[in-house]
Amino acid sequence: MTQILIVGATSAMARGCAFAWAAQGQRVLLAGRDDAELARLAQDIRVRFNTAAQVVALDLDETTPRESWLAELQETYGQIDGLLCAAGWMPDNETMRHGAPALQVIQRNFTGPVALINAFADVCEQRKHGFIVGISSVAGDRGRQSNYLYGAAKGGFAIYLAGLRNRLFASGVSVLTVKPGFVDTRMTFGLPGLFLVADPFWVGQQIVAASDKGRDEVYIPGFWRLILLIIRHVPEVVFKRLKL
Ligand SMILES: NC(=O)c1ccc[n+]([C@@H]2O[C@H](COP(=O)([O-])OP(=O)(O)OC[C@H]3O[C@@H](n4cnc5c(N)ncnc54)[C@H](OP(=O)(O)O)[C@@H]3O)[C@@H](O)[C@H]2O)c1
Repeated sequence: MTQILIVGATSAMARGCAFAWAAQGQRVLLAGRDDAELARLAQDIRVRFNTAAQVVALDLDETTPRESWLAELQETYGQIDGLLCAAGWMPDNETMRHGAPALQVIQRNFTGPVALINAFADVCEQRKHGFIVGISSVAGDRGRQSNYLYGAAKGGFAIYLAGLRNRLFASGVSVLTVKPGFVDTRMTFGLPGLFLVADPFWVGQQIVAASDKGRDEVYIPGFWRLILLIIRHVPEVVFKRLKL
């Protein structure tokens, strides 16, 4: 039985993952900012699956080193075997482009997750045991005018995870990069122009299945791999003229 730290646990996708892991009998640590919602989720998991679920306060906006935070967490709850980072933030396009929100987009989607995963990666490497799952996005595969800051943070996160996977392979530690397409969550609620929208709970289950199989990178649903393959190959001279 393993223990998994889930960051951004109030996300509907992360909930799907938490349920799938709890159904396997794994213990989960639910980390985030919304204590009340996390407590409800932990109680729900304990009742449904008769497994341990604890709440952990974590705000990725804080830039404090994560090594000591992680060490204290393991002292309190025992060894952490896996880490899922589902945290992210995508404000509307106009907000995202300027000042503080622009930096927050980078912090919540890239710098904050990287600081935490760096600390966990060192622990896993020493133990030669563990797994890491990071949720990037199809938005990270090519910059578009509608969300290039968010896309840049997610693209950077995917490159970071690829490098980490390469580093940790020799230690037997797996790193999975998840690239969801459009998913029906709080983040996308009311956005215009969405299509082929996936159910977040189903996406969560697919993430756990991919992690169990030791996959390196998954697009969810899988057809997004083909869509992005086409999008990445549109010549820049054409792409820059498109309204995307
Ligand atoms: N929805 C989509 O179509 C889609 C597509 C591709 C990728 N993604 C990615 O999938 C992941 C889950 O997103 P979602 O769609 O389920 O959206 P969501 O419901 O808004 O979930 C985002 C999660 O990030 C957490 N978070 C945000 N800022 C944080 C901070 N400073 N510190 C700690 N936690 C923070 C939120 O916690 P609070 O409850 O405290 O706000 C929430 O748990 C994200 O990484 C997102 O970028 C989503």
